[in-house]
Amino acid sequence: MDSKYNIGNSNKNGAVSKFQMRLKPTPILFNNKNGPPSPKKMKLNEKESKAITNSNNNNGNMIKPNRISIQEQRRKLPVFDKRNKLLELIRRHKTLIILGETGSGKTTQIPQYIYSARLQENGKIAVTQPRRVAAISVALRVAQEFGQGMTVGDVVGYSVRFEDVTSKKTKIKFLTDGMLLREAMFDRLLMEYTVVILDEAHERTIHTDVLFGIVKKAQKIREERNLTPLKIIVMSATMDVDHFSRYFNNCQAVYLEGRTYPVSVFYTVKPHDDYQASCVATFFKIHKEAPPNHDVLIFLTGQEEIEACAHQIRLLAKDPEVQGPPIKVCTLYAAQPSTQQMTVFQPSQPNTRKVVISTNIAETSVTISGIKYVIDSGMVKVRSFHPSTGLELLKVQRISQEQAWQRTGRAGRESEGYCYRIYTRSQFELMKKATEYTPCTSISWTNPPREAVVAAFEQLRLLGAVENLDSNNLSPIGKKMSKFPLDPRFSKILLAAQQYGCLEEALTVVALLSSESILLSPPSKREQAHNFNSVGQSNRRPWCHEHFINMRNILHAREVRNQLEEICKKGDLVISSCGSQMNQLRKCLLSGLFMNVAELHRDRQYITLDKRQVVQIHPSSSLHGQQPHYVLFTEVVQTNKCYLRSLTTIEGEWLSEIAPDYVKSRNIRFNKDT
Ligand code: CDP
Ligand code: MG
Repeated sequence: MDSKYNIGNSNKNGAVSKFQMRLKPTPILFNNKNGPPSPKKMKLNEKESKAITNSNNNNGNMIKPNRISIQEQRRKLPVFDKRNKLLELIRRHKTLIILGETGSGKTTQIPQYIYSARLQENGKIAVTQPRRVAAISVALRVAQEFGQGMTVGDVVGYSVRFEDVTSKKTKIKFLTDGMLLREAMFDRLLMEYTVVILDEAHERTIHTDVLFGIVKKAQKIREERNLTPLKIIVMSATMDVDHFSRYFNNCQAVYLEGRTYPVSVFYTVKPHDDYQASCVATFFKIHKEAPPNHDVLIFLTGQEEIEACAHQIRLLAKDPEVQGPPIKVCTLYAAQPSTQQMTVFQPSQPNTRKVVISTNIAETSVTISGIKYVIDSGMVKVRSFHPSTGLELLKVQRISQEQAWQRTGRAGRESEGYCYRIYTRSQFELMKKATEYTPCTSISWTNPPREAVVAAFEQLRLLGAVENLDSNNLSPIGKKMSKFPLDPRFSKILLAAQQYGCLEEALTVVALLSSESILLSPPSKREQAHNFNSVGQSNRRPWCHEHFINMRNILHAREVRNQLEEICKKGDLVISSCGSQMNQLRKCLLSGLFMNVAELHRDRQYITLDKRQVVQIHPSSSLHGQQPHYVLFTEVVQTNKCYLRSLTTIEGEWLSEIAPDYVKSRNIRFNKDT
């Protein structure tokens, strides 16, 4: 049987436009050919079941989290039995590594144990998370577990960019890696804290790598100066402990046993390149067969795919021929506004089905209860920084086998579950082991990230933020820049906007670039979001609908803009508008993003001036097909090619005018042929 899809055509870069996907999906063949999923028909091999079950704890009883009290749930977590042992180890060691499967209770319980045992003494406990959604959802959960009407912001609080929900009373503070880094900018010794928990340590980004170094150094200096000691706890879901331990002078590591129920795993019979469409088809297969409230979690790679998939499921759900309970579609991706992210944690109504479509956030960072089915596309989008090219890349790639098992495990949190892999068994066997990946940042734990540090300093120097390469001192401009919770290039744009008389516009652009996309496509309908402010409160929703604007994201962007405007006003910056003189704004953007210019060459190709990388304009850009000679970009996305996103046009000669130092020191050559 042909297992191809008749829904939508993927365009060249693999994305399927939601407007192409109106036809019904044809069924997809899995290796459980004969009807509904049954664990008996598809036995896991020994290695597979070991990877996802812990037979000691698996007595087949269903845990129904909504029926048992929250305190009872806490006592059932694997970490609970280890409480005293853990506290003893934390007391004894200044640095400790705690490893345990996702869902064992590390993030929610350990900070509370420390707090109840008063190990933090007179300081605070910081718990860092690589993602804002994890920081917020965990803080809400822990506040709820504290009980007695505790609200978040009291003893338990969180701090993420553009949102600080803490108070004088806060003792347990969940915060993103980036926020703790910002705090360290103002107090290198982190004196506010006596315990820093670096959570999800396997999710390494440039931020975490730098943060680990800073925390380690703060601990050492505090010790040397006889200041209040700083305890460091590193927590991770993966078992590769050696590099963490070595980095922290061979410190002690403890393992926590996890607990999951058996999960039946199904593979597709044939490979499916259009994994997004296959996920949708598989969802409807499950939807038809599974009882209500057996919720589904779909792993896709990023916002565009997730929104397209959500749109298609909503659309198909309206089809009178679709059988099954009412469907509630939730989406989860990193830069989504937090209020929207929180909806995935709301328990579903009786006799409905919740489907959560998520990036790898739901792999280890957050736990959503009620999930019984997982659909795994097998793909992930990885943000990586290449010190050699200086480009930050978003790359879609196959997951590792470990990630595949993590995803599978999410279906077995509360009872037996099912995992549908949108790849064949042989494809799975070809997937890499996590240890075969070189870390995306090319920074090893034992060697300091020289190349990356040098590149970052060079960038700060060119932006005028540091006095010179030999000193770490910020220049007066650098000090002003550090007041903004932004990438230094964006802070520079806001400061330069004075000179170009376009701070009004620059604030809007930077706020939009700092939030998730407000556009819902299609490109032909894209309008200037500017008019939004003149639309009355009650007309906003229809206005957004009509203009294909995501209302939540535009409200969030406006909130971000207000905060940035406040900081500008405090810094005595004059807010003026350049009106229709858009060249002023473009020049201003160039003053921060001069390293992000690409030039048109033959064959409609663009080459970046900085690192001579071959790139193309992303098909979703309104500049696609126009071929301006010079473009300024903010993002590079790598799928099968390198694509530039969020662009504007500039004139080549502006570069020498605005960033002469850069053009000279990098010996930038312009292409004379075009
Ligand atoms: O950090 P780790 O993955 O070990 O587990 P955790 O995040 O502390 O979660 C432990 C348990 O708390 C989960 O299995 C969920 O049942 C529950 N939890 C929740 O209900 N809501 C949250 N936002 C976070 C956790
Ligand atoms: Mg955790």
